[in-house]
Amino acid sequence: MSLEALQEECRSCRKCPLCETRQNVVFGVGDANAEVLFVGEGPGQHEDETGIPFVGAAGQLLDRMLSIIGLGRHNCYIANTVKCRPPQNRDPLGVEQQACQPWLNEQIRLIGPKIIVCLGRIAAMELIREDFRITKEHGLWTQRDGVWYMATYHPSALLRDVSKRPEAFADLKLLQAKVREVCTHTNPDPLA
Ligand code: URA
Repeated sequence: MSLEALQEECRSCRKCPLCETRQNVVFGVGDANAEVLFVGEGPGQHEDETGIPFVGAAGQLLDRMLSIIGLGRHNCYIANTVKCRPPQNRDPLGVEQQACQPWLNEQIRLIGPKIIVCLGRIAAMELIREDFRITKEHGLWTQRDGVWYMATYHPSALLRDVSKRPEAFADLKLLQAKVREVCTHTNPDPLA
């Protein structure tokens, strides 16, 4: 199955109650052959309205962060742990994440990224370890099944607390180094 066909199937998903309140399924955006995949938490209001991940204020910050290391929607893929907006932007519930995880797993399988960057605690707890501590473990690499995983602060956290930005910048530099090390068609040098 292609990523496009998976997206089409996901559009009519009714596996959890979030389907009742969504305006759009926010499947993901970017290069279907991306070597770097970013996974956020779940769509907010703007994402729900547009069907595109990370288009609100946090998304604009994410775009600026990625451009520092030559990355963007043209050469990466951006998705979320849940594809439909949790009401009032609350954290997704465990049952919602579980219902949605097969979509993300299939996205990961089809894209076949070399690097997965979890944006925030929720994605890290789903994809790296259930008891992941973002303040202690951001910026650390782990490898599983040939894929490198790292988590950094969610851009919304960086909007709320600018004092975390230097740490997030250090994580970005670690990501740039890992892209140089393991990727073959992703250039992390912004001026190249
Ligand atoms: N926050 C997320 O985690 N994902 C989005 O798509 C937008 C905001």
